Amino acid sequence: MAKIEDCKIIDIQKVSSDRGSLSVIESDLSAPFDIKRVYFTYDIPSGAERGGHAHKNLFQLIISVSGSFNVIIDDGNNRKSVFLNNPSQGLLITPGIWRELDSFSSGSVVLVAASETYDEDDYIRDYNEFKNS
Ligand code: TYD
Repeated sequence: MAKIEDCKIIDIQKVSSDRGSLSVIESDLSAPFDIKRVYFTYDIPSGAERGGHAHKNLFQLIISVSGSFNVIIDDGNNRKSVFLNNPSQGLLITPGIWRELDSFSSGSVVLVAASETYDEDDYIRDYNEFKNS
């Protein structure tokens, strides 16, 4: 049974110098899974909501590389909101967790590292179906 307590904030390795900052997401270092896919969302209009689904088998690490947003995570019994505004921290989302993303700031960029390639069959996009799964 998935639990929101297993969705942890993970520190992202950061190398800073007078030339700026560099952050690294590497399997087994920042991401506790093998990364097979990276995607990012941007140009997100004010008031938009993204997510609204769960995954059956997918692990994800969600990072705010620019700006800020809220991630609501829900295991069917408990729900909480996690505010992401720091590119040095990622939220690990384990399989079987419903997530909703909202309150995007202007210019926010959501970077997601995922454990599998895209597979629509891995999605549960109906909340009642998720609750009953
Ligand atoms: P969606 O799951 O609605 O995005 P979000 O979780 O950010 O709200 O996906 C939007 C569209 O993009 C949908 O048609 C599926 C497609 N998509 C891909 O083709 N490949 C991918 O890796 C992802 C994440 C989505």
